[in-house]
Amino acid sequence: PTIAINENTVDAKLPTGESVSVHLFGATVVSWKLADGEEQLFVSSKAILNGSKAIRGGIPVVFPVFGPPPPNHATSSLPQHGFARSSTWEFLGKSSSESLGKKADTTIKLDFGLSSSMISEDFRRAWPYEFGLVYSVTLSPDRLETSLQVQNKGSQPFDFHVLLHNYFKVPDVSKISVTNLQNKTYTDKTEKGQQKQETSNAIAITGSTDRVYLDIDPTVPVSVVENGKPLFSITREGLNTVTVWNPWVENAKNMIDFGDEDYKGMVCVEPGAVKNWQVLEGGDAWEGTQTIKPRL
Ligand code: BG6
Repeated sequence: PTIAINENTVDAKLPTGESVSVHLFGATVVSWKLADGEEQLFVSSKAILNGSKAIRGGIPVVFPVFGPPPPNHATSSLPQHGFARSSTWEFLGKSSSESLGKKADTTIKLDFGLSSSMISEDFRRAWPYEFGLVYSVTLSPDRLETSLQVQNKGSQPFDFHVLLHNYFKVPDVSKISVTNLQNKTYTDKTEKGQQKQETSNAIAITGSTDRVYLDIDPTVPVSVVENGKPLFSITREGLNTVTVWNPWVENAKNMIDFGDEDYKGMVCVEPGAVKNWQVLEGGDAWEGTQTIKPRL
């Protein structure tokens, strides 16, 4: 594999042609291309890449709180979705593997780190815990895997959420559906957090959609499907919620870093651990992983 370490991104390409680019701001995967060069991730043309705002697209990492933090909690002073997506991470290194020297099986893993001493004074004051995050992005010809390890490096326990905020690029959001969430309970954030039961086995996106599906078996793939064919299939480890989000017309207009028409070409399907707080005791570690298979 070839790898380029640039000022702001780390880019890797497999001998078979697939590539990935990870921005150090947020350790945000900002590009994932298949061998034919086709981009899999949506990044808004209005995304702000200068570090003043989380990147609008790709795969932002949400930690230690999902959504607006609740009152009277250790995360209350943090911004929505926490600080991991708006802090500068360090590149820890790469490793690659080839099974039996077969070019077609070459895989590359890029590791990124963020720890308490690397975040801003403001974030440290708002969330004064000793932590270490290691985020691994592994590209294979037939999948992209991203995995977040959370370490508590202090002696106090802390509460956290994790979520991997995938922005998938789709040809036409009105033609896709999200499958395998039937019979699941979800929180409808477009209706003040009302709890509902999913009846559809193929959820169409026909308006503003913001749902957190709860207690999802991580081994069952959740897929984005077009004409009966999966464009993306996601399995998870340690991540038991799946958020489905599309801002639609009005909310799109209200985001400064999202084009008015951008909602037509994307859907967010976000594996997370956000139903309850994960509690991490001093010295302990936790890991959550997603594996995304593209259309092949
Ligand atoms: C989703 C949330 O995960 O992220 C939505 O469920 C939110 O409520 C969306 O609007 C985007 O959040 P942000 O902070 O990146 O604008």
